[in-house]
Amino acid sequence: MSEQNTAPRTASPPVVGILGAGRAGTAFARTLLAADVGVDICSTRPPKALQHHLKIYAPGAEPVAPEQIAERTRRNGPGIVILAVPQEELDEVDPAWIGESILIDATNTWTYSGEREPLPGWLEAAVTEQLPSSMAIAGHFSPARTVKALNHIAHSDLDDAAGRDLPMTQRRALAVAADDDQARGLVMGLLVRMGFDPVSLGPLAAGRVMEPDGPLFNRPLRREDLLPYAR
Ligand SMILES: NC(=O)c1ccc[n+]([C@@H]2O[C@H](COP(=O)([O-])OP(=O)(O)OC[C@H]3O[C@@H](n4cnc5c(N)ncnc54)[C@H](OP(=O)(O)O)[C@@H]3O)[C@@H](O)[C@H]2O)c1
Repeated sequence: MSEQNTAPRTASPPVVGILGAGRAGTAFARTLLAADVGVDICSTRPPKALQHHLKIYAPGAEPVAPEQIAERTRRNGPGIVILAVPQEELDEVDPAWIGESILIDATNTWTYSGEREPLPGWLEAAVTEQLPSSMAIAGHFSPARTVKALNHIAHSDLDDAAGRDLPMTQRRALAVAADDDQARGLVMGLLVRMGFDPVSLGPLAAGRVMEPDGPLFNRPLRREDLLPYAR
């Protein structure tokens, strides 16, 4: 047997896919890459056209075509894709790209000068009824398993707030809501690796408090601040 064949095999690092390479998507990418998690990322631009942008905002992230966003994540990890595309563009995101992967819904419904961003019809109906937007997103992107997370921290806070070297008690706490226990657990593990203290609020419906008009939005919180909102 050759030396090459007897050498111990090192496992490839896990890979996470990110849909959207804007402010949020590239900030998630930087935090993941700093935690030794590989990143595949896409936008409306072809991979080649994204290269320069990524060199500046998320060096090390791999530009891919949207339909390839989940491929490597399933080979090298639990198959997690982060949705970081504005909600008004969600009709342009094909659920087939995500398939049965875990989908971290990091999106928010934005209101500009009193006017809500124009939403796809399936999302507009839910938001008008004051349902959490992630519930409509979970239905639209089924069979993906949706986990609401990472939407309530600003892109400009992510790099500094990630405390990979800190004990859990000193880390910034981030809320997680999901109907699927296994998916929620895997996403919480990812957030720990990124340097946060994840707190489960329970089902997706409990994630309403994570939205822009809710009490958790863009606040530097600790575990004890989040626990009262857990169901
Ligand atoms: N900004 C934050 O601090 C923050 C934090 C947490 C969560 N969020 C949420 O994340 C979402 C994105 O916010 P953002 O601030 O990152 O927006 P942004 O800076 O405008 O970036 C949006 C990105 O989505 C891409 N995109 C649009 N349509 C797409 C499609 N069909 N397929 C693939 N990519 C597509 C855009 O591609 P192109 O570059 O090719 O146009 C762009 O890269 C929003 O819902 C926001 O509420 C934002």
